[in-house]
Amino acid sequence: MSYPYQLMTQADYENAYRKSVENPEEFWAGVAENFVWRKKWDKVLEWNFTEPSVKWFIGGKLNITENCLDQWAQKQPDTPAIIWEPNNPNDPTITLTYKELLAKVIEFAVVLKNNGVEKGDRVCIYMPMVTELAIAMLACARIGAIHNIVFGGFSAKSIRDRIEDSQCTFVITADGVYRGAKPIDLKSAVDAALEGDTPVKKVIVLNHANIAISMKEGRDLWWHNEIASLQGKELKDPIEEMDAEDMLYILYTSGSTGKPKGVVHTTGGYMVYVTYSFVNVFQYKPGDIYFCTADIGWVTGHSYIVYGPLAAGATSLMFEGIPTYPDAGRFWDIVDKHKVNILYTAPTAIRSLMAFGLDPLKGKDLGSLKVIGSVGEPINLEAWQWYYDNVGKKNCPLVDTWWQTENGGILISTLAGVTPSIPTFATRPLPGIQPVLVDANGKELEGNNVAGNLCIKFPWPSMLRTTYGDHERCRLNYFATYPGNYFSGDGALRDENGNYRITGRVDDVINVSGHRIGTAEVESAINVQDSVVESAVVGYPHDIKGQALYAFVILDGNISEADALAKINTAVNKEIGHFARPDKIQFVKGLPKTRSGKIMRRILRKIAEGEMNNLGDTTTLLNPEVVEEIKNHRLS
Ligand code: PRX
Repeated sequence: MSYPYQLMTQADYENAYRKSVENPEEFWAGVAENFVWRKKWDKVLEWNFTEPSVKWFIGGKLNITENCLDQWAQKQPDTPAIIWEPNNPNDPTITLTYKELLAKVIEFAVVLKNNGVEKGDRVCIYMPMVTELAIAMLACARIGAIHNIVFGGFSAKSIRDRIEDSQCTFVITADGVYRGAKPIDLKSAVDAALEGDTPVKKVIVLNHANIAISMKEGRDLWWHNEIASLQGKELKDPIEEMDAEDMLYILYTSGSTGKPKGVVHTTGGYMVYVTYSFVNVFQYKPGDIYFCTADIGWVTGHSYIVYGPLAAGATSLMFEGIPTYPDAGRFWDIVDKHKVNILYTAPTAIRSLMAFGLDPLKGKDLGSLKVIGSVGEPINLEAWQWYYDNVGKKNCPLVDTWWQTENGGILISTLAGVTPSIPTFATRPLPGIQPVLVDANGKELEGNNVAGNLCIKFPWPSMLRTTYGDHERCRLNYFATYPGNYFSGDGALRDENGNYRITGRVDDVINVSGHRIGTAEVESAINVQDSVVESAVVGYPHDIKGQALYAFVILDGNISEADALAKINTAVNKEIGHFARPDKIQFVKGLPKTRSGKIMRRILRKIAEGEMNNLGDTTTLLNPEVVEEIKNHRLS
C-alpha cells in the first residue's frame, strides 16, 4: 500500500522534481487533489516576494481536521491515531483511535465554543506532551480559532509577551508536567503571565499531575468539569469551513534582532505540504508506528507529530518524558514496546545518549525500526555514525531533514530508501523546493561545489505568510536581504552532485540543544540587571548541545561576581526560560568595539571557540587592549 503521491524510486523523485519546477501549479494541484476539500480552489498560486504576498489554493474551502480526523474515522475508525507513552514507564499507555480522537476533538471544540471562543480568536496553549494538547490544537482548528502554542519550558514573561503580541483571549494549560522524577508546575507560570492587564478572558486547566494550584474565580475552569457538563447532551459539531488562506496557527520563533516573531501559517497549503513531505521523507506506509520525539511546543511537533501524520492517517506516538528517565535506554524501550518503525529525533538527543555509551542499548531489539531521522541542527559525523550503526543497525536509511519554523515543513532531505543518504548532508531539495546559494552581495552562485547563504527562490505551499501584526518585519527579516529570495539565515554548501550540506546559522541565532535562541534576547535579559553595564552573548561548539551560549558581561563594580552570576541566571530563567541560560559567563572590563561603537562579535566568537590565535585584524578597534584581557581570563 502506498499513497497516490508517494515517490517510490529515485526516478520517481527526479521526475516529480522536474515537474514541480517546470510547472509548479500543476504539480501541487495534482498533490492537493488527494485531500478533502469542501470546495476546490479557483487558482493554485499567486505570489511575489517583494511585498511579500504568497497565496496557495486560492478560493479553496476546507477544514484541516476533516483531513486529519473525519476521513480516517470513516475509512479506518479503529486504527490508532495517537499512542501516548507516559513519563513513568509503569503508568498506562493511552491509545486513541481515529474514531475516539475525532469524538474528543468535537467534544472539546464544543467546550471552547461554549466558553465564547470564536473563529479567528487567538488561543494560547501551554501544556505538557499529553493527548489533550493534540486535542486542544485540533479543537481550535476545527472551530477556526488560531492556536499559539508556547513550549512548556518558556517563562511567565515569555508567555505574557506572546499572549500580548497576538492578543490571545483564551489560554489552555495544565496544572503540571511530568519530566523525569518530579512533576513540574506549569499553572503558576500562566498565573504570573496573566497578572495585571491582560486580554485573556478564560483559562481552561487540565488536571494532569495532581499538583495543588490556585484557580482564579471567574477566569479559570477545569477541563474535566467542562467535559462533564456536556455529558448526556446531544453535541452539535461546531466545525467551521475555512478558506485555504485562513490562519491556522501562530508560532513564535527567535530571530537575530528584537523580540520573537509570530510566524503565521495558513490552512490549505500547510496541510498539503506537511502531509506530502511526511509521507515521502519518512516513506510512511499505512500501519507503521511513527515516533517523533520533539515537543509539540516547537514546529516539528506541529507539523510532524500532529498535522502531517494525522492527515496521512498515520499512527503517531507521543512521549511525555525525557530520553534519560528512568534511564538512558528509555527511547529504545519505547521503540521495542510499541514496535516503532520510524524514529525522528534531534542530534542533541543522540549526542546526550551517546555519552552513556552502548550499555543502555544492550538487550534492546530495535528490529522494528525501518527509518531513522534527524532534525533541528547540523548532525556531526560522529553522531550520524553512532545513530546509523547502533540504532539503525546499519540497515535503516537516516534522513537528515533541514527546515525551519518559517518553512512549515521539511525542505531539504533524503527520502528514506528512495534517494541516497550521505553522512552530514541533508542532500536534495524536496519536489517544489528551489534552493539557491548566494554570496554576500546576493549574487547567485551557480553550479556545484559552492558555498554561500541558503535562500529559496520560489514559494512552496507551507511557507510563512507573514509575522503576526507586523508584515514589514516579515519582509525585512526574510525577503529584503537578498531581493527576490526567501533568506533562511543558514549557510550551506552544494557538492559536486548537487547535494546540500547545512553549515549552520550565519546570523546571531544560536541553536542550543535544538532550541533556537536569539543572542539579542539573552543580552537584553542580562542587561536589565542594575549592576550590568553591558553584555555580549555568542555561541560556541558544545559536545552535547551542539552549540552553547557564552556571555561576556561588564559589571558596574557595585556587586560581587558571585552575586552577579546568580542574578543573571535568575534573570534569564525569568525573561526567557532555563534553556537559554549561558553555560559560561565571563566578567570583563570592556567589550571590543569598532570606532562607531559596535561590538565586534566576530572576535568574541573566536575567543569563545578557543581560536585565540586567529582573531583577524584587531587594529581598527576602538579599544584593542580589552582583547588581551578577555583572552587571558577566558573560561575553558
Ligand atoms: O539552523 C537551522 C537549524 O535549525 C534552524 C531552524 O530552527 P527552528 O525554526 O527552531 O526549527 C527547527 C526544526 C525544523 C535552521 O535555521 N536546522 C534545522 N534542521 C537542520 C538544521 N541545521 C542543519 N541540519 C538540519 N537538518
